[in-house]
Amino acid sequence: MAVLSRLALTASFALSASAAGLGGSWQQSPLTSPSSLSSSQGSKPLISTEALQEAISIDALVERAQKFYKFAQTSEEDYGHPTRVIGSTGHERTLNYIVNTLLDQGDYYTISTQEFPVTLSNVFESQLVLGSSVSKSAVPMGLTPATRDREPVHGQLVLVNNDGCHDSDYPKNVKGNIAFIRRGACAFGDKSIGAGKAGAKAAVIYNTDPEELHGTLGEPTKYHVATFGIDGTEGNAVAEKLAKGESVSAIAYIDAEVKQIQTVNVLAQTDEGDPDNCVMLGGHSDGVAEGPGINDDGSGSMSVLEVAVQLAKFKVNNCVRFAWWAAEEEGLLGSDFYAASLSEEENQKIRLFMDYDMMASPNFAYQIYNATNAYNPAGSEELRDLYVDWYKSQGLNYTFIPFDGRSDYDGFIRAGIPAGGIATGAEAVKTKEEEEMFGGHAGQWLDPCYHQICDDLGNLNHTAWEVNTKLIAHSVATYALSFDGFPKREQETKISSYSETIKQHGPKLIM
Ligand SMILES: *[C@@H]1O[C@H](CO)[C@@H](O)[C@H](O)[C@H]1NC(C)=O
Ligand SMILES: *[C@@H]1O[C@H](CO)[C@@H](O)[C@H](O)[C@H]1NC(C)=O
Ligand SMILES: *[C@@H]1O[C@H](CO)[C@@H](O)[C@H](O)[C@H]1NC(C)=O
Ligand SMILES: [Zn+2]
Repeated sequence: MAVLSRLALTASFALSASAAGLGGSWQQSPLTSPSSLSSSQGSKPLISTEALQEAISIDALVERAQKFYKFAQTSEEDYGHPTRVIGSTGHERTLNYIVNTLLDQGDYYTISTQEFPVTLSNVFESQLVLGSSVSKSAVPMGLTPATRDREPVHGQLVLVNNDGCHDSDYPKNVKGNIAFIRRGACAFGDKSIGAGKAGAKAAVIYNTDPEELHGTLGEPTKYHVATFGIDGTEGNAVAEKLAKGESVSAIAYIDAEVKQIQTVNVLAQTDEGDPDNCVMLGGHSDGVAEGPGINDDGSGSMSVLEVAVQLAKFKVNNCVRFAWWAAEEEGLLGSDFYAASLSEEENQKIRLFMDYDMMASPNFAYQIYNATNAYNPAGSEELRDLYVDWYKSQGLNYTFIPFDGRSDYDGFIRAGIPAGGIATGAEAVKTKEEEEMFGGHAGQWLDPCYHQICDDLGNLNHTAWEVNTKLIAHSVATYALSFDGFPKREQETKISSYSETIKQHGPKLIM
């Protein structure tokens, strides 16, 4: 968990016309190009996948990466190190650069921003004492409130019955003490609310497996209490004592601040092409507070931007809509806000959404989200197979990874829009088999600098980045040319089976 010395609170974007009010839909704040470059499509060649892939070069991507790193460095004064986290100057510069690069394409795109509020929490200091020892695994949950008066609170740990998902699970003596709750069955946020309603001073949620528990409580309510996650090893030891009737005291301390700021999604849509049949794609413009975020998701945002720049040389049959989401790292906030703000009519115009998050992990695997039509809106599987066919055609290996809600496709699937994407891996450990398939090092994370200070210019595999950006170009060119054979949008959406199986919402666990 980040310990920030200071919050950069200004979210004043130097975007000429981004003054859309809260909740404004994306069309409400078009930005106009200052240049009078003519980009009339008449004289341009019709898009072809070969030509668009050919236009992608690693040199152009690396040049953009150097700029992103410089933007991250502008945050050093506030954060003590480079970062592009929302609310930072590094993120603000990133947004300005994306918009200005799009404006340079003349009137090829209609560019707009969508403003939305983000709740941020910064934990300045925290400690959890269980019995007579300081917990080694305690991590404050994301968006946790502070303990009372930002001071330590003392109490007995009280074991909550069942999973702590119902008010009746909380014994009377939780009042004035610290609730001790098992992970599972409902969201961390619900457990914290349960503890708060029962009068607990704080709550501790323990994992059911040995790993540390990094989660988020989600949007704050007046009932949330200061909440820690601890690993299953510490958790089970305490739970056993409590179950035997032994008493265990605790001291919980969280000094934190929860604040709301405004940030923006950036959108760009081709002026030409059938506006009722859009192929949409995006990456997230923000990174985490811990580092410069050059692979996550500098790489995906830059790939998408480079494809947008190159696409402007061509004529399209179908509309292409690009997005750069903000606040992905805070829980997919930008893409959720966007997908939820679509009217039914606007929703139906999006034939599919393609997510591009982390395209250049140093110890990469070529990963494809295993999005199937059985569990997702029809078309998700056709998109998955487009990626499969392309890697095969290049003689490259690929793996399927779970389509489980960890990135910005989530809001689209929930809104009934077919989606999918590719990635190169975060904190998963490379297997021996994957080493044979992709090279690199078994036993290490696919991105050894995931969410860390070292996610810098050295944290990019150029081969993987170029390969995947060409694949992004292929995906855009294919659907910009034609949706022949691609399923029509369904009015009735099959999203229930997806929602039931999802444990994540963005990078942090919610339950
Ligand atoms: C992909 O998902 C389907 C279910 O939709 C499942 O049957 C299949 O085993 C999955 N494949 C992999 C490799 O995970
Ligand atoms: C694909 O994986 C196999 C092992 O499963 C390996 O022998 C082969 O070299 C890999 N191909 C490429 C292009 O890396
Ligand atoms: C990128 O990955 C390829 C294949 O594993 C490897 O040969 C190459 O050295 C890597 N490049 C960098 C800069 O890490
Ligand atoms: Zn990401």
